[in-house]
Amino acid sequence: EDALTRIRNIDLIELGRHRIQPWYFSPYPQQLTKLPCIYMCEFCLKYMKSATCLRRHMTKCHLKHPPGNEIYRKEHISFFEIDGRKNKSYAQNLCLLAKLFLDHKTLYYDTDPFLFYVMAEKDERGFHIVGFFSKEKESAEEYNVACILVLPPYQKRGFGSLLIEFSYELSKCEGKTGSPEKPLSDLGLLSYRSFWAATIIEQLMHHKASFPSGDENALSISQLSQLTSIKKDDVISTLQQLNLYKYYKGQYVMVITDELKDSYEKSRKKMRVRIDASYLKWTPKD
Ligand code: COA
Ligand code: NA
Repeated sequence: EDALTRIRNIDLIELGRHRIQPWYFSPYPQQLTKLPCIYMCEFCLKYMKSATCLRRHMTKCHLKHPPGNEIYRKEHISFFEIDGRKNKSYAQNLCLLAKLFLDHKTLYYDTDPFLFYVMAEKDERGFHIVGFFSKEKESAEEYNVACILVLPPYQKRGFGSLLIEFSYELSKCEGKTGSPEKPLSDLGLLSYRSFWAATIIEQLMHHKASFPSGDENALSISQLSQLTSIKKDDVISTLQQLNLYKYYKGQYVMVITDELKDSYEKSRKKMRVRIDASYLKWTPKD
């Protein structure tokens, strides 16, 4: 990719009640890059050149939520599933928006092979986009996330973990393990590592509660992977990082120690809102 094309080309976007400074280049039409701000409809994500155009658009656009099916709602958090083939213009606008905050991911002009899971926060005015992840309909590499984004005004409040947790809940429904597409950004890697560690420690503590002593205190990598839908490689790298990977009776196992309790309590405090799988109304298509 040409170095020039990677230079940030949009100064500011207005999206709902947020004004956001982009981080990276995104291929919006050339004429828009000269403006001090571009305006987007927060529901259909159409981009416009002026506040006037947006106002006019808002009188005609009757969407109050992302398109597609609402497949999860608990309290004020909802998830919508959008098919990149059926809602092409929305999906393309979402990719353009996402590229503003992604350095290295390729942009998907061809959105047909993807599903998009948009997380929105509900209030009396509608469902406001917080972030999303995309997912290939068929992934040979067993990726369960292609691209993941939390919009900057919502970052560092636990929404990234929530999106990641949701992606693994979908994999659980599919009876598969999954992993995010590589390469991950620095922020992506931080978020995944934190999620994997918290999830695995949680499983181990859960397991410890049901088997307080004896050999049953050992859980295999495969079991951990099956219980969490986290791909084995990621389970192993997480255990290595937590320094809990042990060779035991002819296989690699996770031996539960009391030291885990502290990390567990810490990670539990951090996990604010959680996905409640009983609110998920979704079955995998095939
Ligand atoms: N600095 C340090 N740690 C950070 C961080 C930052 N800027 N942003 C997130 N983290 C850590 C948090 O400390 C947290 O770990 P903890 O629970 O152990 O404290 C973990 O990452 C998740 O935080 P959370 O608030 O749930 O993440 P988020 O809502 O900010 O979303 C991303 C994380 C990656 C989705 C978000 O940063 C983003 O959209 N980035 C731009 C797009 C991108 O890089 N996507 C990934 C590549 S495809
Ligand atoms: Na990035």
